[in-house]
Amino acid sequence: MSDDLKQPFLDELKSVTSLSDAAALKVKYLGKKGLVTAQIKSLSTLSPDERKQAGQQINELKQFIEAECDKKESVFKNDELKIRLLSESIDITLPGKFAAFGSEHPLSKTLGEVIDIFTRMGFSVEEGPEVELDQYNFEALNIPKDHPARDMQDTFYVSDDIVLRTHTSPVQVRVMENRKPPLRFIAPGKVYRCDADVTHSPMFHQVEGLMVDKDIKFSHLKGVLITFLRQLFGPDIPVRFRPSFFPFTEPSAEIDMGCILCKSAGCRVCKGSGWLEILGAGMVNPKVLENVGYDPEEYTGFAFGMGIERIAMLKYSIDDIRLLFENDIRFLRQFS
Ligand code: DAH
Repeated sequence: MSDDLKQPFLDELKSVTSLSDAAALKVKYLGKKGLVTAQIKSLSTLSPDERKQAGQQINELKQFIEAECDKKESVFKNDELKIRLLSESIDITLPGKFAAFGSEHPLSKTLGEVIDIFTRMGFSVEEGPEVELDQYNFEALNIPKDHPARDMQDTFYVSDDIVLRTHTSPVQVRVMENRKPPLRFIAPGKVYRCDADVTHSPMFHQVEGLMVDKDIKFSHLKGVLITFLRQLFGPDIPVRFRPSFFPFTEPSAEIDMGCILCKSAGCRVCKGSGWLEILGAGMVNPKVLENVGYDPEEYTGFAFGMGIERIAMLKYSIDDIRLLFENDIRFLRQFS
C-alpha cells in the first residue's frame, strides 16, 4: 500500500520550487496528520505477519521521502544564501568613513547675527554691485570731486568713471531710485579700499542701513542703533553718539559703545578711553534725497554703516584682521 504514495510524492516533488514548498511537502507526507503517518497508524489493524512486511515498506518510504525533501531543501538553502551574499556584499571589516565637519566662518556668523537683528526690526536685505559707477559711489552721495576718499590712493579705479565700491552706501541710492518711501532695509556686502595692515584689508565687509518715511527723526535712529548694539553685545552695553561729518548725512554722528574687552576701564584696544567706535550714521542729507527725486520737505530718513570685520574682531577678540582671510583651519576650527 505504501507504494501508492511514492509516485504521487515524486510527481509533487517535481513542482517544488522553493524552500517553503519543500517544507510543506514534507509536512504533507510526514507531519502529524501526514499521509505516511496515517499509514503507520493503520498498521495496528493488520495481522502480525502483514504488519511486519507493510511496516518495513512504510519505513523505507518514510526514509525515502525524508531524504528527498532534505535534498531539495539544501539545494534551495544554498541558492538563497548565494543570492543574499551577492546582494549584500559589504565588507564589514572595513573601517568606517568619518565625514569631516566644517564650521561657519566667523565673518559669516557675525553677518548672520547682524542680519537677524535687523530683520526682526522689520528691515529687508538688499544688494548692489561691487563694481560700481563713480556716480553712485560718490556723486549721488554728495561726495564732491575733491573729497580725499576719491583719491587714487584709497579707491581702486576700474576706469575714469567706474570703481570698486569703497562702501555699501551706493546701495542707498540704487534702492531709492527704484522705489518710493516708506523704505527700511540693510545692504550687506564686500567693499574695497587700497589699504592693508593689522586692522585693514583691501577687501572687507560693510552693512549699510537706511530708513526713509514721513516724520523720521534722529530719535528713531538712536532707538534702532541702541537696540541693535544691545542685542549684539549685551543688554547693558553703554552707547554714545558723537557729532561727526559725512557728506551724505546731516547731522552726522559716530556711535561708540563701551569697550567690551576692559568693561570701559581703558585698555590697549580702546586706547585707554573705555569707548570703541562702532558705527557711522546720520540723517540722510536733503541733497541725497533730491538726487534720487524724493522731496526732502515730505520725506526724511536716517542712514548708518558699519564694518563687519571690526565687529567680528571685537566679538571674538581677534587682534589681526588677516586671520579672517588666511583660512587657516586651526583658526577657523575654534568657531565650530
Ligand atoms: N559709508 C561710510 C564709510 O564707509 C559709513 C557710513 C557712515 C554709512 C554714515 C552711512 C552713514 O550710511 O550714515 O565709512
